[in-house]
Amino acid sequence: MKIIHTVSALNLALQPVRCKGDSIGFVPTMGALHQGHATLIRQSIAENDCTVVSLFVNPTQFNNSEDLRLYPRTPEEDQQMMRELGVNLLFVPSVEEVYPEPDRRVFDFGMLDKVMEGRFRPGHFNGVAQVVSRLFSFVQPDRAYFGEKDFQQLAIVREMTYRLQIPVEIVGVPIVREPSGLAMSSRNQRLTPQERVHASQIYHVLNNSRGRRGMYAPAALAEQVVDEINKVPGLHVEYYEIVDGYTLQPLSTWEESDYPVGCVAVYCGAVRLIDNISYK
Ligand code: PAJ
Repeated sequence: MKIIHTVSALNLALQPVRCKGDSIGFVPTMGALHQGHATLIRQSIAENDCTVVSLFVNPTQFNNSEDLRLYPRTPEEDQQMMRELGVNLLFVPSVEEVYPEPDRRVFDFGMLDKVMEGRFRPGHFNGVAQVVSRLFSFVQPDRAYFGEKDFQQLAIVREMTYRLQIPVEIVGVPIVREPSGLAMSSRNQRLTPQERVHASQIYHVLNNSRGRRGMYAPAALAEQVVDEINKVPGLHVEYYEIVDGYTLQPLSTWEESDYPVGCVAVYCGAVRLIDNISYK
């Protein structure tokens, strides 16, 4: 595995790959890797000749400087995991390498970023689009892998790729969970053992609600989910929305969508967790 820090070294390393016409798979990450990331990386390795993983904690997508400061960083363990998985190139750029000039682009995602994460983390998806579009132009992958755990991010990346006409296939990968049901996340490292137990209830509440789909309208079911999660000690729901999985707009009736998805953000103590479930 080659570890690369600059765009010019990345181009040099990818030159023979491009010349041969080999396919390039790309997995962008912010590090503190876990089995969720590993699943994306494995799929990229299985589907492409060369897999590039980037490890870059992107400052422009953090709207809270404390969250950026506290974001877990485990570079040694990350390298070890990527070596074992068989990653070809690991791209670890500095902030100056990715942003030689401040990126002032403002993206238009229509209604996609007006809801949920977009509403509660203003500017977050603009920062995600800035970094992902730059990384795509550096790596020029054939396929790029994103987790469904960040459901709205996946929709935004698809939209951005379409609007900017970037020739890359966006591959969505299902959520990887701990045996307890808790969606894997780098932020879980900040939970105490007790908080982890409480946080695992999020998935069970979401999953149980699927069985009541026929009995309640989406908004009424969403209200029940919020109450049930808030009853768990230490958990506090920021939002729970049942939306159409393509437009991300809230549903008034189940008939409006053939892909209803419930998306949640929950504070567990000071740690903000997100998860989602399909009602299909
Ligand atoms: P990060 O949180 O490191 O996640 C990198 C990728 O791993 C994302 O596509 C995310 O959806 C996926 N992922 C994380 N946990 C997962 C899980 N439990 N199951 C499946 N996939 C999971 O998301 C980002 O970084 C950044 O916003 C990034 C796209 C790198 C741009 O900076």
